[in-house]
Amino acid sequence: MRSLIIGLLSVLVLLACIPLVLIATGTIDGSSVRMILNVMTGLDGPAATESEVQSRFELPEGFHLQLYASDLPKARFMRFTPAGDMLLSRPHKGDILLLRRDADGDGRPDAVETLIDGLKRPLGMDFIGDNLYIAESNRIGRVAFDSASGKLTGAYEPVVEGFTDEGNHWSKTLRVGPDGLLYLAQGSTCNVCVEEDERRNTMMRFAPDGSGGDIIATGLRNSVGFDWAPWNGELYATDNGRDLLGDDFPPCELNLIEEGHFYGWPYYNGDNIPDPDMGADPMAAEREPTPPAHGFRAHNAPLGITFVDSSGWPAGYERTALVALHGSWNRSTPDGYKVVSLHWTENGIEERDFLSGFNQDGDIAGRPVDVAQGPDGAIYISDDYAGAIYRVSYGDNNQDWSPEVASAEASRLDTQTPQWLDGADLPAMARRGALLYDVHDCRRCHETGENPRLLSGLSERLGYNAVIDLLKAPPSPMPIYPLSENEQRELAVFLLNPAAGNTPEAVQTEDRDTP
Ligand code: HEC
Repeated sequence: MRSLIIGLLSVLVLLACIPLVLIATGTIDGSSVRMILNVMTGLDGPAATESEVQSRFELPEGFHLQLYASDLPKARFMRFTPAGDMLLSRPHKGDILLLRRDADGDGRPDAVETLIDGLKRPLGMDFIGDNLYIAESNRIGRVAFDSASGKLTGAYEPVVEGFTDEGNHWSKTLRVGPDGLLYLAQGSTCNVCVEEDERRNTMMRFAPDGSGGDIIATGLRNSVGFDWAPWNGELYATDNGRDLLGDDFPPCELNLIEEGHFYGWPYYNGDNIPDPDMGADPMAAEREPTPPAHGFRAHNAPLGITFVDSSGWPAGYERTALVALHGSWNRSTPDGYKVVSLHWTENGIEERDFLSGFNQDGDIAGRPVDVAQGPDGAIYISDDYAGAIYRVSYGDNNQDWSPEVASAEASRLDTQTPQWLDGADLPAMARRGALLYDVHDCRRCHETGENPRLLSGLSERLGYNAVIDLLKAPPSPMPIYPLSENEQRELAVFLLNPAAGNTPEAVQTEDRDTP
């Protein structure tokens, strides 16, 4: 009964807001109204077309955009399978789609299939081994998934149940951390209030079997996206600032998530400015709010974030994350509606436009939700307004990610020794190769599992060039890894000279110069 009343009240409040918003925007053209109706009622925006994408969007010099997939209403979060197919969650449809990788090279997924449906508003997804974990609005579930065939191979089973999903911000984001544990972010029920369920507006951590469930960070209003910086393992989460304090306050946030920290909501906004509606934090004596690591413009609504592997990109993207700004819905002029790049520099975090053009003077063509990097190195961006996925690649060498080259070419030794071997520090390269082999878990197909394809004696079959070619265009179902040229060489050195880096001692003892 109580939730019914709250539900009715929120509808009334929302309805009351519509005229306000229309007046406030001052731009009551068809496009703005449609965008507002999208927020209020879920009405879809106009579908994206390749020609519009090409004519209206802008990227930094040297990057290229294509419309990768369309006709995907309510597309929200993405995750690549180990075989390079894309999973796409659609909380409003209760399903997860599988977009088969573009092996035929026509610039579109080879097929779009429903992987699983009938779920309660699924958003976050990630893998531990062959298990796909899914965050519904009220629970975390898991199901066995065979990446080679792109099919589920078991029954879906709950792992953690009993999350609340009343009110606003009911979606849950789930990622597996570098420590192999499950991280779950859930938003607040309201714009600004004290929550009854203390797990709302936090980040939590669980073991893969669902045990644990510690709250590791509090005071996060709605952290929909988070990711770990690859250079130091720090965890960063986006957070959406509250509404109804004007057009330009408070900033949306990027927070460096540290265990036990309190990030301010609902008592503080931005750089710990007390909230005018809430009064003093009753727990002020026990906790200091942690200010954001970076502020986005107010109402920009940062959602998905991903740190990129910028191998092959121009200088300036070494320590970079891409963030999707979904765009404002209650600001007098629409703002956000783009993908920005964040750069960790000596002067702190700098924000630059990456993909823009969704909003042209209030004419809204799309709303970016999530950013993911494919195994081909390209950047994929989901849009729940146009129902589209865009693909951004660097340079005109649209990487060949068809797997067929490998098998024909691979079974031969080099006729020529590659140049880069001259004077190369083979033991050091082999050690780095061994680490890459570890990091990418090559073992799960080549040493363990049902039918491991052993790589022993590889040097009798393949030369350096053949191994590198194979890593560039692997035989199915071996994934395409986003490896730089150097990393491909390091892996090749390791695989072809097992003695030079193969032993665990050699991997761990960095200062040993002879293996
Ligand atoms: C999902 C499973 C899978 C993963 C993960 C995987 N591979 Fe493979 N790999 C394969 C398959 C399948 C083949 C083809 C084997 C065959 O044709 O007999 C293969 C072939 C190879 C070959 C050629 C073997 C030969 O004897 O000709 C090399 C080298 C190789 N992989 C290296 C790697 C490296 C390095 C990694 C990690 C970065 C990796 N693989 C990850 C499945 C995988």
